[in-house]
Amino acid sequence: MLNKKIEDICNRQIEREAFSSNLYLAMAVWSETNGYAGVAGWLYAQAEEEKLHMLKFIKYINERGGKSVIPAIKKPVSTFKSVEDLFNEVLKHEEFVTASINEIVALTLTEKDFNTHNFLQWFVMEQVEEEASVKNILDKVRLVGKNNMYQFDRDIMGLRAPATGTPTAQ
Ligand SMILES: [Fe+2]
Ligand SMILES: [Fe+2]
Repeated sequence: MLNKKIEDICNRQIEREAFSSNLYLAMAVWSETNGYAGVAGWLYAQAEEEKLHMLKFIKYINERGGKSVIPAIKKPVSTFKSVEDLFNEVLKHEEFVTASINEIVALTLTEKDFNTHNFLQWFVMEQVEEEASVKNILDKVRLVGKNNMYQFDRDIMGLRAPATGTPTAQ
């Protein structure tokens, strides 16, 4: 059975994963309507992954005797100065999510909730991969510069790591 503190912080994470999904959808829309179909494809796929992260928390909370709360989601930003600006925002957001996951991990230790601690290890690894993958994309964006966004947009899907793990119920 989950204690209330752990249940609440996991519910907070449901909102954050849901927001991530919507943020990447908003970014996909900006990309698609500004001629970057490849970037949009990457972001739509990313939005789907974030939805799976949210589901993973929903199912975990329910399975451990808690109750998931489906939250209202604040409206994400929808305009960006450039593709580089957009991916800087993605990186900032992923760093925020990493800090958020680490905060839950720390709480599971003080609350001695080793089941949730174990559940979170998948997310710890996932965040390492997410940050590395976005940094890799930013390196490429800077390398091609503003003049060759066509090539970058064509190649970006090749930079996607396959989704790790199957986010099903534990
Ligand atoms: Fe996520
Ligand atoms: Fe993410």
